[in-house]
Amino acid sequence: MKARITIVLDEKIGTVNRNIFGHFAEHLGRCIYEGIWVGEDSAIPNVRGIRTDVVQALRRLDPPVLRWPGGCFADAYRWRDGIGPRKDRPRTLNIHWGNAPETNQFGTHEFIDLCRQIGAEPYICLNLGSGSPREARELVEYCNGVGDSTLIEERRKNGSPEPFNVRYWGVGNELWGCGGHLQPSAYAAEVKRYLTFLNHFGIFKIACGPRGTNPFELRRDWTLEFFREYAKVQHPSQRPVDGFALHFYTRSPEAGGDLEFSPAEYYWSIQDTVRMDGLIREVRAGMDAYDPGQDIALVIDEWGTWHPQARSDTGLEQQNTMRDALVAALNLDIFVRNADVVAMANIAQTVNVLQAMILTKGERMIVTPSYHVFEMYRRHQAAESVRVLFDSPKAGSGAPADPPVVAGAASLKDGRLFLTLTNVQIDQPVDVEVVLLGGDHPSVRRETGRQLAGTDVRDHNSFDRPEAVRPVDVSPVWKGGDRSVLRLPAHSVSALELELA
Ligand code: AHR
Repeated sequence: MKARITIVLDEKIGTVNRNIFGHFAEHLGRCIYEGIWVGEDSAIPNVRGIRTDVVQALRRLDPPVLRWPGGCFADAYRWRDGIGPRKDRPRTLNIHWGNAPETNQFGTHEFIDLCRQIGAEPYICLNLGSGSPREARELVEYCNGVGDSTLIEERRKNGSPEPFNVRYWGVGNELWGCGGHLQPSAYAAEVKRYLTFLNHFGIFKIACGPRGTNPFELRRDWTLEFFREYAKVQHPSQRPVDGFALHFYTRSPEAGGDLEFSPAEYYWSIQDTVRMDGLIREVRAGMDAYDPGQDIALVIDEWGTWHPQARSDTGLEQQNTMRDALVAALNLDIFVRNADVVAMANIAQTVNVLQAMILTKGERMIVTPSYHVFEMYRRHQAAESVRVLFDSPKAGSGAPADPPVVAGAASLKDGRLFLTLTNVQIDQPVDVEVVLLGGDHPSVRRETGRQLAGTDVRDHNSFDRPEAVRPVDVSPVWKGGDRSVLRLPAHSVSALELELA
């Protein structure tokens, strides 16, 4: 099987926002409790209650941003339950996730500590659904306030004399669903009301946009009706929202599973994944109708795989195979190729939930194939995305609706070209001719390459075989000059760094 890609070095798309490599952690199943928080008295090594192995693994990904506390949880969360001495914090029920007991041992201070330990910017989603503008405003003041106020004093007493300086704030989550079942125009009116009380802190506020899995009409209506209402400005002092967030999960057919799936089910999920490209353009086009200068950033607040066994009663737990790795790579490539419009993207969710980076079992921890993709793709961060043209056969049965066999993205930084490529064909390698076009007679002086593949697309890491799937070095692969033929194994992800002469 053959394909060709052409990298147009002179055609710059935009700088890849580091935040497209963001993560999301919710109070849900074993994500926060056990996955991240074990408590200071735990036998599991920890720093101030946060498990050390997970922090070390996450640090290696260079995570730019971490969204918390939900998700659906956010619109039922009372932030005051999660501050102050831990022994005094109330116990509540996690109503969206099986009424699981919520001990509130992990709250705002612990979240900020986690972000600092892993080196990520905090992103807090405010409770709009069951909260109030006052509670939201008070949380922002508590976190970021300087000077003299009772709330600031309380934060100091709780151990943080310096402000947290949280820049990113969500104004509610999935308001079309678990956030309150609002109509888009009703939500837009609420956002304006909330912003009136949040605008005094110089923060970046993100409204929740449509659900990618909805039919086209609902997605379009959510975006257009939101902005139609939103654009009705009553006073020039009114300041706009800074971001608007799409949520889109890759589903797999009901019959399929996380580990057991047929080739047809596999291609179905891949096809579902690559819809992300069109969704980004579609939502941006809806926003552009009211925001032609693109002052409001497009954020992908939640994305990743959602397999049938990830249910509320299983804490949305699922295994993570090479298929998930390909979904991660395809999405990250899409975000890099759309660097001009995608400002942030957060995969769901960091530990033990949905397309997790990390799985834990008591004191043990493993990383998933998706983790390796994030680690391999890091070099795109803050690089200049350049145009890539694809000439690829269709995967699967080769039908017009099937996804192309080869996809990828390219970016430039410091004279180096970083190229990421996927072969989604389940059982065949593909020979890709890579052509460098433009620039000043480009040729490759030096290169390094890494590849993630498996003998079977269902390959995964388990506590018995924690390193069954891991990347291997593949250089040298470039044969010279401005073009080379690279062999991509079946169902594989590759990352090449080319030093251009
Ligand atoms: O990530 C799991 C859930 O998916 C989130 O809580 C919600 O926002 C979305 O529907």
